[in-house]
Amino acid sequence: MKRRRGRTAAAALLAASLLAGCAPVAQNGDTVSLPAVVPAPASIEAGSGAPFRLTPDTTVTGEADAAATLAAIVEARAGFTPAKGGRESGIDLRIVPGSGAPESYRIAVDEASVVVTGADAAGLFYGVQTLGQLIARNSAGGGQQEGEDAEWTVPAVTIEDAPRFAYRGAMLDVARHFHPLETVKGYIDRAASLKLNALHLHLTDDQGWRIQLDSRPELTERASGTSVGGDSTEGQGTPGGFFTKAGYREIVEYAASRHMIVVPEIDMPGHTHAVGLAYPELAEEPTISDHMREIIRDYGGEEPRPGVPYEGMAVGFSSLKTRDEATYDFVADVFGELAAMTPGPYLHFGGDESLSTTDEDFAVFVARASEIIADLGKTPVAWHEAGAAAGLADTTIGQYWGYLTAQEGVSARARAFVDNGGQLILSPADAIYLDMKYPNGPELGLTWANGPTSIERAYTWEPSDIVDGIDDSGILGVEAPLWTETIRTAADIDTMAFPRAAAAAEAAWSPATGASDLRTWASFRERVGALGPLWTSMGIGFHPSDEIPWVTE
Ligand code: ACM
Repeated sequence: MKRRRGRTAAAALLAASLLAGCAPVAQNGDTVSLPAVVPAPASIEAGSGAPFRLTPDTTVTGEADAAATLAAIVEARAGFTPAKGGRESGIDLRIVPGSGAPESYRIAVDEASVVVTGADAAGLFYGVQTLGQLIARNSAGGGQQEGEDAEWTVPAVTIEDAPRFAYRGAMLDVARHFHPLETVKGYIDRAASLKLNALHLHLTDDQGWRIQLDSRPELTERASGTSVGGDSTEGQGTPGGFFTKAGYREIVEYAASRHMIVVPEIDMPGHTHAVGLAYPELAEEPTISDHMREIIRDYGGEEPRPGVPYEGMAVGFSSLKTRDEATYDFVADVFGELAAMTPGPYLHFGGDESLSTTDEDFAVFVARASEIIADLGKTPVAWHEAGAAAGLADTTIGQYWGYLTAQEGVSARARAFVDNGGQLILSPADAIYLDMKYPNGPELGLTWANGPTSIERAYTWEPSDIVDGIDDSGILGVEAPLWTETIRTAADIDTMAFPRAAAAAEAAWSPATGASDLRTWASFRERVGALGPLWTSMGIGFHPSDEIPWVTE
């Protein structure tokens, strides 16, 4: 973090603090006011001059895709579209190959111009997202102006930015409750605005199979019609549903247009009761455990029965037949078809909570499934339990969902992926499982992962401290999962994800804690609070938590 000193710093502070969307930041014992950017950029330096005025006559030149992205943000935020006139000073959006690391960008703003350069198309896209956060309703002229008379500005600033981690994910569970195409697209927009670049879709679970496959049409014909709570719109249930292959392709294309890959997950060998509805011959009988009796006692619902859709919330009772060759024909069909329609490098095969599969059978399954995926030319991904299995394909990525302080044995399983030539995606459940209840929040959500989870806890952790012996080189990235046992609508998703997804994005994108003055809870809560008006203009129904000093206009 660089900061101008002396007279220049004072002038910068004055200019910046006249604008909405600034946040005070402690630096070297002083408090300065910098434009609020989330996730925190690698470097931000306030300029000393007047801000750039953004008007309907502002010219936008350069890359057409980036100009369209910016126009949509300005339209939402300020209510007009730039680039129509050409009489005033302009915004230039350029890709300059080789100008920095992949996905990096630079923004230089003064009174006369805004110049955004990306090292590649993704970098330019992220620069435009940052520029969108810099747009402020100007109060310098004495009081805020309303409606069409409002004056919009971008503060004089220089930002140089690049991601810390290559993989920055959001996971959406469309199995416990199905979420339709438009909701998924909306979540992609929201995630991309935080510079996340991977949408992990949890496509299958005990409660439903949500992706149509030509090789196995019975899966969606027989196992997609219900959800947690049943198939009615009364109570907790929704009618279920699934993505057609065309719908899935539409998601992939939409995500790509926002520089995101899709990581499809087919959870196996546990979490597979729905498979048994379509192919009873592949599924073991459900195991009724004490855990299941507890869940039924606490949340209601029935015990799982073969051939009957499961509408409860228990886990760990189902397993594929891991010693049966037909199971691997099934795995090859499913992942073969998914590989053909997924351009991203990763296929996720689950592997979590296979509590009714013996350790030996689990290891056999993990070895075979990961090898099938590797043979398809894709990189397998699995939840951390699979790290214990001998025979895991080399370079398999592990997804850590233990706690901030790892429980017994969990670090070792996670480390095994790295020892095997792979890396880790970090999803500490007591920090960034977005479906955990908020303290003093709405009724939505669960608490099993040490919840309720405050925004401060979602924010206050350092990726390199999570798994003993694993530093940045062993970490592919960070991902915030959103499980949907209680989450039924797009509004529910917004409430649970915002603002906590921003905390995860900062862990994924920004410098390490200690490496930047901005990487503190005190700074984050101010910066996130300053985004309130932008999020509202984008239609994001964030949880207005009293942990955050929300700016209103
Ligand atoms: C998980 O939460 N079972 C990955």
